Amino acid sequence: MARVYQQAFATTLSNVARTDYERITVKPLAGALGAEIGGVNLARLDDKTFAEVHRAFLDHSVIVFREQDITPEQHAALGRRFGALMIHEFVAGLADHPEVMPVVKEPREAFVFGNVWHTDMTFREIPPLGSLLYALEVPEYGGDTMFASTYAAYDALSATTRKLIDGLYAIHSAGQVYGPKGELNEEGFQTGNQATRIHVKKEAEKTMEHPVVRTHPETGRKCVFVNLAFTTGIRGMEPEEADPILRMLCEHSTKPDFTCRVRWQKGTLTFWDNRCTQHYALNDYPGRRRRMHRVTVQDKTRPR
Ligand code: SIN
Repeated sequence: MARVYQQAFATTLSNVARTDYERITVKPLAGALGAEIGGVNLARLDDKTFAEVHRAFLDHSVIVFREQDITPEQHAALGRRFGALMIHEFVAGLADHPEVMPVVKEPREAFVFGNVWHTDMTFREIPPLGSLLYALEVPEYGGDTMFASTYAAYDALSATTRKLIDGLYAIHSAGQVYGPKGELNEEGFQTGNQATRIHVKKEAEKTMEHPVVRTHPETGRKCVFVNLAFTTGIRGMEPEEADPILRMLCEHSTKPDFTCRVRWQKGTLTFWDNRCTQHYALNDYPGRRRRMHRVTVQDKTRPR
């Protein structure tokens, strides 16, 4: 146990404030990941500031901007600076901006979208590079989002476990969430929770394989790439063999030491690197409304 913790803390040292930014300020949120970025108007981002924002994104995996005021067009345009935008096949976008996905909980609703540790859309052949979530209306307290660094999770594993999982391929599917037998298919769910518009489809049951340990295409760092919501097995293993390994990796990847927590205000925009993080939207604000817009950026290559 002691050795594991030593390794985890060694990793956390990488999330220190760097001083070589000229246009922006960068204030780490926690030891493992996350930083608040200052000095930026996201509606008008010149190339030099954009380059620094991109560097901060790679350095900290989750970057948070406060007091922004952007339209859906500006939100989508910001996402496009990082790559092509994705349209979620199981969650409706805005009628006039299908690439902008409302993530909403009304006061009468119990369901909170993203209320399980997950990495977005790993059921896709090329899962997202990242997502930009913008807060339009938030409860006075509650409704935070937690993030976990899967770099830190990998770095903290023993050499023996790394040897076991390096080279394995995991099976991913949207079926257990968005499929006809998935958890969002219940009639009660469909009638009682409609603010975030979920489309249950048979095609959600399709499977996709990705490495259990992936190498980040821009930083070259290794990270654990399995999650509770969408990972269903390991290629070549029986469920009795795969399930305990996946359970251990999912629990390990979201240990408190590897997390940070974003408290939202109206106008906060958070951009997370979906290749090296997981996140969890808290369901702790019954009777209150939370309204967000999400833009999801496509990655360029399959996880390797
Ligand atoms: C998501 O998983 O995309 C939603 C996160 C949140 O609403 O905090």
